[in-house]
Amino acid sequence: MTAAAIRLHPAGPLEAGVVAALQQTCFPDDPWDEGSVATLSAPPSGFAVVALDARDEPVGFVMARVAAEDAEILAIGVLPQARRGGTGRLLVEAAVTGSRNLGATALFLEVAEDNPAAWSLYKASGFFSVGRRPGYYKRPDGRVAALVLRRNLDGA
Ligand SMILES: CC(C)(COP(=O)(O)OP(=O)(O)OC[C@H]1O[C@@H](n2cnc3c(N)ncnc32)[C@H](O)[C@@H]1OP(=O)(O)O)[C@@H](O)C(=O)NCCC(=O)NCCS
Repeated sequence: MTAAAIRLHPAGPLEAGVVAALQQTCFPDDPWDEGSVATLSAPPSGFAVVALDARDEPVGFVMARVAAEDAEILAIGVLPQARRGGTGRLLVEAAVTGSRNLGATALFLEVAEDNPAAWSLYKASGFFSVGRRPGYYKRPDGRVAALVLRRNLDGA
């Protein structure tokens, strides 16, 4: 599958179940229920976008919310079988566009230090590190730090 076959679809509260199913598959150790997804992505400050493949099947999602000039990606994921086709990059750009439309001038997120795929995606998408939170994520064998990343949305 290539990014050319992907269609992005804004997901409203009625589609929280679809987003939750994607989140649960992408984050089996930290699954969110439909109610949490609906609350976190509720307008006017929150939003969610789903990526649909050529058969209109959901294969990825992003959730973000905006507080004043700062936006945050709450979660982003692509189903394992659909990865490395450019969908993650499209979803990051959807978060950028949605955040700009809500007035944000910076977009933040946290990424676990042991997640090189996500870190590479964000670096390729213009994010840079602005902080580190030791022991932020739980792992079966201990804890791992989060890097706080930022992308500037004003200007370019
Ligand atoms: C991170 C994630 C969303 C990436 O989605 P994706 O659709 O595979 O990403 P893309 O195909 O758009 O990749 C864009 C770029 O990111 C980087 N990248 C993505 N996956 C990578 C991997 N496994 N290893 C190294 N680099 C990777 C590459 O630079 C890639 O560009 P390239 O393919 O031209 O080399 C996906 O791996 C995922 O859902 N992981 C599980 C959930 C997760 O960790 N979410 C992020 C939490 S902060």
